[in-house]
Amino acid sequence: MTGIINWNELWKTMMSGHKRRGDRGEDPGSMWDKRAKKFNESVMQHTERTERQITKLELKPEYTVLDVGAGIGRLTIPIAKQVKSVTAVDQSKGMLACLQENMEREGITNVTSINKRWEEIELGVDIEPHDVVIACHSLGMPDIQEAIEKMDAASKGYVYIISSAGRWMDGGMEAILGRRGRSWGMMDYIFFCNLLHEMKIYANVNIQDTEYEQHYDSLDEAVDRWKGTRDLPEEKEDALRAYLSGILIEDGGTLLYKRKSKNATIWWQKGDLK
Ligand SMILES: C[S@@+](CC[C@H](N)C(=O)[O-])C[C@H]1O[C@@H](n2cnc3c(N)ncnc32)[C@H](O)[C@@H]1O
Repeated sequence: MTGIINWNELWKTMMSGHKRRGDRGEDPGSMWDKRAKKFNESVMQHTERTERQITKLELKPEYTVLDVGAGIGRLTIPIAKQVKSVTAVDQSKGMLACLQENMEREGITNVTSINKRWEEIELGVDIEPHDVVIACHSLGMPDIQEAIEKMDAASKGYVYIISSAGRWMDGGMEAILGRRGRSWGMMDYIFFCNLLHEMKIYANVNIQDTEYEQHYDSLDEAVDRWKGTRDLPEEKEDALRAYLSGILIEDGGTLLYKRKSKNATIWWQKGDLK
């Protein structure tokens, strides 16, 4: 029984307007494979943002944690230092290769990685239930309700979804690239809250200030990266270039894109995990 809006159907409709790599016969992890090294260099510097996110999680030395869409291990690694073990699931081989390097550098040995899409994971076969399940900026599954139901079923204690709150892209960029997909509000916390409510999961929400930072070696690289988020028509490239050259900040030989925004930690508890 759904309300006036069927949130999962709305999600599917919005997703179907957003051509996925898997639909074009490409490996769905390929975009992240290409971005992995750069993403790694950039996000592993954001320790303050990561620490702020981790303090919101209930972590104990005896807990097992499942990180869905773990990427290069920005959260996996500091979490692994506080708990018994972490299982990191990610569709991208490139991101998991960076995770492996980061683990070796930090001497972490209690992380198991699984290179699969969350949709392909079979509970009881690929993984057993974990005390804590998290997904941070990684929920882009075509059937979001099914993906969240599986996260809920995989948890014995707590489930955390971290997503953006409010516009993810700045207004100038949005005017050039257009409002689609994420900028429509798909990845906004309020969408997940509505869907969870429909699923009879009455989640808690905590909003935090955050800063999105991205370094580029050159203006060309920045243009390519932003172009890659859309199939941007050729005629819009000059506008994108001009906009980026106006907002990127010189930072130790690189160009920095910086933007203040907000994140939401959406969480619920299952059972009475001590
Ligand atoms: C923006 S990164 C976030 C990584 C990490 N959670 C963090 O907060 O730094 C998104 C990651 O989710 C992964 N991902 C997205 N959809 C996925 C899916 N359906 N199954 C497994 N991994 C997925 C991507 O491959 C990528 O590594």
